[in-house]
Amino acid sequence: MRYFFVALFGFLLLALTVFGIAGRRGTDFRKPPLEIFDDMVRQAKLRPQVPNSFFSDGRSSQAYVVGTVAQRIGDQPNQAWQGTAQNTGLVPGTTNYVAAIPVPVTAALLERGRERYNISCVPCHGPVGDGNGITKKIGAMPVVASLLDKNAVTIPDGLVFHIIGQGKAPNMQGYASTIQINDRWAIVAYVRALQRARYATLEEVPAAERAMMK
Ligand code: HEC
Repeated sequence: MRYFFVALFGFLLLALTVFGIAGRRGTDFRKPPLEIFDDMVRQAKLRPQVPNSFFSDGRSSQAYVVGTVAQRIGDQPNQAWQGTAQNTGLVPGTTNYVAAIPVPVTAALLERGRERYNISCVPCHGPVGDGNGITKKIGAMPVVASLLDKNAVTIPDGLVFHIIGQGKAPNMQGYASTIQINDRWAIVAYVRALQRARYATLEEVPAAERAMMK
């Protein structure tokens, strides 16, 4: 008999617990009856168009930062911003790649390109661009295009820019998400420098250093 009451008590406790957590069927609650983790359901946030003491002008909605450029006007892309050669690598209004880098090529840009190339491209294309990177050595990528081949030398700068951002099927992925536009042009400039280093003629070497090269 004693065990009967212990079991009954246990059962009632269990029922109460289940009921306490799950609630009664068909009952609506504004909040969950029992909330162990709130999982960020409620959080401090700014609602638009209501007073807010956080900002000095007392509004929750703030004006755009000076210099903000609209990416879309209505439902159209903002062409004034997107359609430039610098952003697309294309001659504006056409589908032709620009022949030459549309930003000023300076020593600083080349240096930035060297740094970025050595981070993003060296694993596959190798330090001098001949396609002998570590991925080939370990067999992860048996064939990598050489950037010193005639094809890579003759394609327009805009296409090299495009390949850096969008990749080249089937084996090279695009780096648009990790290499910013100005850095892509910097890398293009550096790739051209690597090619120049390979193909320059003796006449292009300053006279003083020529003897050393022979
Ligand atoms: C994961 C390896 C890998 C990385 C990293 C990589 N590439 Fe490539 N790249 C390739 C492969 C493989 C090809 C050949 C594409 C194909 O035909 O499959 C290629 C092709 C190219 C081509 C076209 C060459 C031609 O003759 O058409 C260019 C230009 C190029 N890469 C530039 C770059 C630059 C610049 C970077 C650094 C931002 C880079 N790649 C990073 C693997 C890579």
